[in-house]
Amino acid sequence: MRLPAFFLHLICKITLTMNRILVTGGAGFIGSHLCEKLLSLGNEVICLDNYFTGSKMNILHLLDNHYFEVIRHDVTMPLFVETDEIYNLACPASPVHYQYNGIKTIKTSVMGAINTLGLAKRTKSKILLASTSEIYGDPEVHPQHEGYWGNVNTLGPRACYDEGKRCAETLFMNYHNQNGVKIKIARIFNTYGPRMNQNDGRVVSNFIVQALKNKDITIFGDGTHTRSFQYIDDLIDGMIRLMKTPDIFTGPVNLGNPVEVSVGELAVMIIKMTGSKSKIVYLPLPEDDPRQRKPDISLAKRELDWEPKIALETGLSRTVKYFRKILAPDKSL
Ligand SMILES: NC(=O)c1ccc[n+]([C@@H]2O[C@H](COP(=O)([O-])OP(=O)(O)OC[C@H]3O[C@@H](n4cnc5c(N)ncnc54)[C@H](O)[C@@H]3O)[C@@H](O)[C@H]2O)c1
Repeated sequence: MRLPAFFLHLICKITLTMNRILVTGGAGFIGSHLCEKLLSLGNEVICLDNYFTGSKMNILHLLDNHYFEVIRHDVTMPLFVETDEIYNLACPASPVHYQYNGIKTIKTSVMGAINTLGLAKRTKSKILLASTSEIYGDPEVHPQHEGYWGNVNTLGPRACYDEGKRCAETLFMNYHNQNGVKIKIARIFNTYGPRMNQNDGRVVSNFIVQALKNKDITIFGDGTHTRSFQYIDDLIDGMIRLMKTPDIFTGPVNLGNPVEVSVGELAVMIIKMTGSKSKIVYLPLPEDDPRQRKPDISLAKRELDWEPKIALETGLSRTVKYFRKILAPDKSL
C-alpha cells in the first residue's frame, strides 16, 4: 500500500526532528526510568550499559520499541555513535557496589566522563552528568547549596565514588570552557523508587525488603541522622528540564527533595506501611557516613521551574508495591 505524500512527509519530518539520545548506565535504576520517559516523549534512545549493577529486566519492557536500541559497552572504553544529547549515568551508586572495585569506580567516573565528553565534542551533542550530593562529603553547611565546596576525605572508603564524581565535574567544566561543549551538571540527592536494586544496601530498599520479609530492620547509627529522599519521577522530570535549559546554563544544580526525615522515622513509616512484624536493631555507623544531607533547591526552582511533587508516603507505597511484586515468589512472605 502506498502512503499518501502528506503522511510520508509527516513521518519524515517527525523522524528528522527526533532527537537521538544516548543514556549511559541506561539499564540501571535511574537510567531505565530515564530511557522510558525519553522514549515516551518521542525521542530515539540508545541505552548503553555493561550490566555491572544494571539489569536487562529493567529495560525488558522497552525492547519492542523500534526507537530503542541497547549496546553492551563499558564507558571506560571510547565509543562511536551519532547522538544529539547524552546523559552520562554509568557508575555504580551504592557503597557496596562502588567499593567492590574502587579503582574501577574511579575509572568509570573519570574515563567515562572523558569518553562521553569526547563523543559530545565530536557530535556537538549536549551532555548531562549525573553527579551526586556525595561531592559535598560530610557537609559542614546545611542545607547544601551549589556554592559549597564540600568536605570530602580523599583517602576514605567513599573517596573512589566522591572524588571520581568531583573529577568528572571538573572535566565537564574544562571541556565546556576549552572546547565549548554544551554541558549540564546535575547533583543528584538520594533517590528511590521501583527498580532499585534490592541487594545494594541503600536505606529505602534495605528497609522495605527487610520489612516485607519480617526480618530485623538494621539501622546504622542511632537513627537520628537524617536524609532527604526524592522519588524517581521527580528526578527524571528535573533532569529533562535541566537538559532543556539554554546552553549558557551549565549548572551544577541540586536535584533532590528538601523534606528531611530521620532514618529512624523512615524505618517506622515502612514498618507501618507494610504491616511488618520486623523489629529495629541498631548497628555502628560506617566510616565517613554523612550525618545529614538536605539539598538547597533554590537554583533548580529558579532556573528549571522545578521542585519535587511526590510526597514520601506516596513514593514509598509505590516502591513497596514494586518490591512486593518482585519478592512474591519468596514463600516466606
Ligand atoms: N540513586 C541515587 O540516589 C543517586 C544519587 C546521586 C547520584 N546518582 C548517580 O546516578 C547514576 C545512576 O545511579 P543509579 O542509582 O541508577 O545506579 P545503578 O547502579 O542502578 O545504575 C548504574 C548503571 O551504570 C552501569 N555501569 C556501571 N559501570 C559501568 C561502566 N563502566 N560502563 C557502562 N555501564 C556501567 C550499571 O550496570 C548500571 O546499569 C550514577 O551515576 C549515580 O552516581 C544516583
